[in-house]
Amino acid sequence: MAEREEWGSRVGFILAAMGSAIGLGNIWRFSYMTYSNGGGAFLVPYFFALLTAGIPIMILEIGIGSMTRFSAPFALGKVAGKKAEWIGWWTAIAALILNSYYMVILSWAFLYIFKSVTLAWGKDPGAYFFGNVLGLTDGPFILGGIRLPILLSFLVIVLINWFIVSRGVKGGIERACKIFLPLMWIIVLLLVIRGITLPHGLEGINWYLKPDFSKLANHKVWLDAYGQIFFTLSLGMGTIIVYGSYLRKGADVVNNSFLISLGNCGFSFLAGFAVFGTLGYVAHVLNKPFEEVVTAGIGLAFVMYPKAISLLPAGKALIGILFFFLLTIAGLSSSISLMENTVGILMDGYKLNRMKATSIVAGVTFLIGLIYTTGGGLYWLDMVDHFISYYALALVGLLETIAVTWVFGADKFREFVNSVSEIKAGSWWTVFAKYLTIAILVILLLLDIYSLATEGYGGYPGKALGIAFGYILLGMIVAYILHSKEKLDITKEVS
Ligand code: PHE
Repeated sequence: MAEREEWGSRVGFILAAMGSAIGLGNIWRFSYMTYSNGGGAFLVPYFFALLTAGIPIMILEIGIGSMTRFSAPFALGKVAGKKAEWIGWWTAIAALILNSYYMVILSWAFLYIFKSVTLAWGKDPGAYFFGNVLGLTDGPFILGGIRLPILLSFLVIVLINWFIVSRGVKGGIERACKIFLPLMWIIVLLLVIRGITLPHGLEGINWYLKPDFSKLANHKVWLDAYGQIFFTLSLGMGTIIVYGSYLRKGADVVNNSFLISLGNCGFSFLAGFAVFGTLGYVAHVLNKPFEEVVTAGIGLAFVMYPKAISLLPAGKALIGILFFFLLTIAGLSSSISLMENTVGILMDGYKLNRMKATSIVAGVTFLIGLIYTTGGGLYWLDMVDHFISYYALALVGLLETIAVTWVFGADKFREFVNSVSEIKAGSWWTVFAKYLTIAILVILLLLDIYSLATEGYGGYPGKALGIAFGYILLGMIVAYILHSKEKLDITKEVS
């Protein structure tokens, strides 16, 4: 069998994994979540979730990747028996589905780099974004045709991904992340400095961090913190497992997990200063209460931020270009990891060569992403995102944690990681992974399902939600079919 590809260096691996973690989720999702969940007080459940679930599951994913040197299905199959392989195959499809809309959001960011040059959004960035750019229709069942600029931009993003991933682990992914990561930190620092030195910028920071501890009594805040930690650390998608599988034998697991997780969360925390410093300024210039200038989700990056850029005293275009360039490269280093998960699985499971596997995955991602380039695309993007980022990540996280801690054995796993790591995973790891994380993920999933059943989601018609949900189920069936045709028999494979 051909030698498994490997990272060129330890730093290369850390940068690639951090690149996967740092993405769209760190720049606008974190800021908005923090603001709406009690400001500075949100940092309490956030760091609690990081320590009790984020870092332990990071250790788990890097650990089984590097122990088995296989992508998710076969890594899980090796530790927990053939039946567990299906969980990994599901990540192959889930990562594809996630990437197909993640890259469309990236393609908006990419377009906005150019729009920043002329401040194309004019006086009403909201109407411009939803009207001129997205061509948003009145509902999910009115698609309204493909938006050509988005389509072309999406194509460029898919091709960049294809180009990087087809060049392999060391020559493609690692090399790209060695350029993207330092750039990302430099740009975010520049934006932080700009944000907090704006007049009244510090008032925005005050809003960002002013703790409202009464919010912590609400269980939803804690669930949001756990959900955000899973998403931001790229857990439950197979990506970290496949990255771990390219580590050299005997490479450190525990210390690397801490570095990657803390680096990622530090980046989010910093990005919050840039976003809220700017918001403080906007609130002041528009003379509006702070609550009115903050918008949820997508609007924060594509409506609020352009509005802020237009109001800046100087260097408008430059700040716009930097901000959207930052979103684009942060997103790219995440989307290549999502692509690599499916590519790695196809290479392991079907013995495809890298070029073929990458071309198939890029092609399919582009085709299934086309729906989001239409005028009604945002509705479908929002629904599919809800099911993927709330249910799929948590479900995979739960199942893989059960597979490793209960079926394989928490102590046996700890023995392996401790034999290679600079710092040791003590019995705290078992307490957090085997008991606490499992309990919390079960509660999280049950509450999410309960709220979906009772309240629906986002006010969408039941029929549309049903179709989006059916799409996810279909993905699970496809995963099952792929799984049943795999050519790799791990029982024969010597490790
Ligand atoms: N962590 C990425 C972000 O914050 C998203 C992601 C999730 C990437 C899962 C890979 C796997 O944007």
